[in-house]
Amino acid sequence: MRASVFLAAALAATTTSATSSSNVTIYRNESFLPGNRLPESHSTTDGKDIVNLFLSLSSSTTWTLVSKTKMEGDTGEPEGMVRVGDERLFVTSNQYTVPTVKYNKTINGTDRTVGAGFSHMLIYDLDGNRIANASLTAAGDIEYHGGGIDYDGRYVWITLAQYRPNSTATIARIDPLTLETTRLFRHDDHNGGIVHDTITNELVTLNWNGANATTWSLNGYPMGFTAIPGFTPAIREVPNPSFYVGYQDCKYLGHHAMPNLLLAQAGCGLRSDFNPVRPVMLCGGVGTFGSLSLGGLALVDLQTMVPLWEVPITLTSDLGVSLTENPVDAQVVDGKLRVWFMPDQHNSTLYVYEAA
Ligand SMILES: *[C@@H]1O[C@H](CO)[C@@H](O)[C@H](O)[C@H]1NC(C)=O
Ligand SMILES: *[C@@H]1O[C@H](CO)[C@@H](O)[C@H](O)[C@H]1NC(C)=O
Ligand SMILES: *[C@@H]1O[C@H](CO)[C@@H](O)[C@H](O)[C@H]1NC(C)=O
Ligand SMILES: *[C@@H]1O[C@H](CO)[C@@H](O)[C@H](O)[C@H]1NC(C)=O
Ligand SMILES: *[C@@H]1O[C@H](CO)[C@@H](O)[C@H](O)[C@H]1NC(C)=O
Ligand SMILES: *[C@@H]1O[C@H](CO)[C@@H](O)[C@H](O)[C@H]1NC(C)=O
Ligand SMILES: *[C@@H]1O[C@H](CO)[C@@H](O)[C@H](O)[C@H]1NC(C)=O
Ligand SMILES: *[C@@H]1O[C@H](CO)[C@@H](O)[C@H](O)[C@H]1NC(C)=O
Repeated sequence: MRASVFLAAALAATTTSATSSSNVTIYRNESFLPGNRLPESHSTTDGKDIVNLFLSLSSSTTWTLVSKTKMEGDTGEPEGMVRVGDERLFVTSNQYTVPTVKYNKTINGTDRTVGAGFSHMLIYDLDGNRIANASLTAAGDIEYHGGGIDYDGRYVWITLAQYRPNSTATIARIDPLTLETTRLFRHDDHNGGIVHDTITNELVTLNWNGANATTWSLNGYPMGFTAIPGFTPAIREVPNPSFYVGYQDCKYLGHHAMPNLLLAQAGCGLRSDFNPVRPVMLCGGVGTFGSLSLGGLALVDLQTMVPLWEVPITLTSDLGVSLTENPVDAQVVDGKLRVWFMPDQHNSTLYVYEAA
C-alpha cells in the first residue's frame, strides 16, 4: 500500500460552471486525474484484448483473487465504476434517504413510490483512498438514482433516473478533470447502464433490469434533441433477448470481429452482407428469480443486444453478495484478463479476480 496523506479536514468547494450542478467535496490535495491528463478509453487501448480473452472464458474458468481493497468512506449503493487510466477509479454512489415502497397495483405505469435520495460520483485512487465526492443531484430531485458508467476518453457518462421502473431519466456526462456535470437530454423511461460508442457516436442506455436498450445519436447534438425537461425520442429501441442477467454496469470495448460470427458466416450461410464486426460492450449483473440469484458477465452487441459470449459468475463477496451485483470493469495484465467488482453497499471492497 502506498502511504497516503490525510488532510485533517475536507476542503469543500462549490463549482460554478454554467453546465454544472455538482457540489464537490475534496478529501485529498491531489488532481482528479494525475497531471490533469485524460487517459485513453478501453476502445482505443485494451478493448480488443479484453474481447479476445473473454472469448476463452467458460463456466469452468478458474477465477483467482488478485486483490481486495477496502474503499474509504460510506459508499452507499455503488452502481457503476470505471477505471480512468491506471491511477483512478470513478464510482457511482447512491444514498437513499427515504426507501421506495411497492404499490399493490400499477400507478402511473410504475409499481412503487418515488422514495428520496442523492447520487454522488466518487473519485478514488487504486488504494481505495477517497479523493473527491461530487453531489450530482439536489435535495428533492426525484431522479436521484445514478446508474452504471462508462468513460470514452473524454467524459464519464451516467444516467440519473427515478429509482423505479417505467419512470424517467436524464442522460448526463461528467468531466473527469473537474467533475462538472452536463445534463444533455431526458428519456421517458428508467435508465441504468450507459455506454458511448465512439465510432458511431451513439449513446446506448439500458432500462430497468436491462430489459430494453435505447439508442441516441450524438451527431449534430443538440440538433434533434428536445430541451430539458422535455423527452427526446430515441432513434432505436431493442429488447434484450436474454432474460438471464439484468445488466447493471457496462463498458464499451470498441468494434471487433467476432470469431464465432465469422465461422457462422463461413459455414452456416449467414447473409453475405452481415457484418461480423460488432460494436461490443462488457456487461455485468445478476438475475433474480425468487430466492435464486445468478451472477454473470457478458459481451453484448450494443446495437442488437444479442449476447456474443456469456459466463456465469458464482463468486460472492465476504459479505455474501454476488460479485456482479453492480459495478464491473476489466483490465488485461501480462496477457491475462482481470475483472474488477464492487458488490457491497456502504462499506465496500474492490475485488479484482484473474481468469486462468
Ligand atoms: C452539497 O451537497 C450536500 C450533500 O449532498 C448538500 O447537503 C448541500 O446542500 C449541497 N450544497 C449545495 C450548495 O448544493
Ligand atoms: C496542494 O498541493 C499543491 C502542490 O502540491 C500546493 O501548492 C498547495 O499549497 C496544496 N494545497 C493545500 C490546501 O494543501
Ligand atoms: C459523499 O458525500 C455524501 C454527502 O455528503 C455522503 O453521504 C457520502 O458518505 C460521501 N461518500 C463518501 C464515500 O465519502
Ligand atoms: C398494500 O397492501 C397491504 C395489505 O393489503 C397494505 O398493508 C399496504 O399498506 C399496501 N401498500 C400500499 C403502498 O398501499
Ligand atoms: C400520477 O401522475 C399524476 C400526473 O402526473 C400525479 O398528479 C399523481 O400524483 C401521480 N400519482 C402518484 C401516486 O404518484
Ligand atoms: C413496465 O412496463 C412494461 C411494458 O409496458 C411492463 O411489461 C412492465 O410490467 C412494467 N413494469 C412495472 C413494474 O410496472
Ligand atoms: C421495450 O421497448 C418497447 C418499444 O418501445 C416497448 O413496447 C416495451 O414495453 C419495452 N419493454 C420494457 C420491458 O421496457
Ligand atoms: C467494513 O468492512 C471491513 C472489512 O470487511 C470490516 O473490517 C469493518 O469492520 C467494516 N466497517 C464497518 C463500519 O462496518
